[in-house]
Amino acid sequence: MSMKSFPLIQLTFLSALMLIVGCGGSSDNAGGDDDTPVIAFVQTGADNDWRNAHTVSVKEAAADKGYDLRFAEGQSKQENQIKAFSSFVNQGVDAIILAPIVETGWDNVLEKAKKRNIPVVILDRKVKTDDESLYVTYIGADTYTEGKKAGKWLAEKMGGQAKVVELQGNPGASPTINRFNGFREAIADQSGIEIIASQSGEFRRSKGKEVMEAFLKKYGDDIDAVYAHNDDMAIGAIQAIEDAGMKPAEDIVIVSVDGVRAAFEAMVDGKLNCTVECNPLQGPLAMEAVEKILSGQADQLDKVTLIEDSVFEMEQAADVIESRKY
Ligand code: AHR
Repeated sequence: MSMKSFPLIQLTFLSALMLIVGCGGSSDNAGGDDDTPVIAFVQTGADNDWRNAHTVSVKEAAADKGYDLRFAEGQSKQENQIKAFSSFVNQGVDAIILAPIVETGWDNVLEKAKKRNIPVVILDRKVKTDDESLYVTYIGADTYTEGKKAGKWLAEKMGGQAKVVELQGNPGASPTINRFNGFREAIADQSGIEIIASQSGEFRRSKGKEVMEAFLKKYGDDIDAVYAHNDDMAIGAIQAIEDAGMKPAEDIVIVSVDGVRAAFEAMVDGKLNCTVECNPLQGPLAMEAVEKILSGQADQLDKVTLIEDSVFEMEQAADVIESRKY
């Protein structure tokens, strides 16, 4: 893809990222010379293991369907995603899959796509809009229930008594909002479970470590448990706890969300107590939706498809780690 194709995207964004793959094939709609459908995927970023597994899943599923996938990722910035999305609309791709970094602020570009008759599939994270006709379908995990499962697990594990610190994901992202609220719903009747601090670790390992270090400095031994909105931040927290001379999963109980391989390894090593799964292998479902849309069967799609997830505890980790696919 030449720079000319992305006039709105800054050089730094272009050079830092592999914005586009598989640009060779194209459809009539996208200005190409064969009938291969051209599908664009606008990803949030590449900031953790879960996200990378998600990207691979979408790329592989597109290849399996024989689609020409054009890929952009926003380096965790909505403005970058909006620029990439607009550029794909201008190219006249056949469909756009959007994993939105935050919930709000999408109406303008979604309207732009609608005007050009480009169908949009929202994947992984939700958008908030008054006009739901701006996208065809949403596919993703039930992140509210994930937060509830984490809260329920922790309350039981701690016998209803704990001072908890929380590492939140990106502000404004649907999994952050839902995991925050779902957790609180689960502990609402547990007066002994107290959230003493809550701050964003941006879904990143390094930031999770940094925030946990600050929590440890401020609250030290008072911290009984960590609730991390994803595994990468939990792994950062584990490092901070060890650096502080404490034993993760023993001195401080840790529950997180995602179920990535590194979390299973941490559980096998006895450093993480529990992970609530959030399956990133969403590519096949996304491409099935795209296939239906392109063959004129969009009306057969549900507006919302939620993926079921499980809870894994440290004690099971060694038995299941080999069967994990991400
Ligand atoms: O939207 C899903 C969340 O986003 C995952 O839990 C997290 O790891 C990712 O960045």
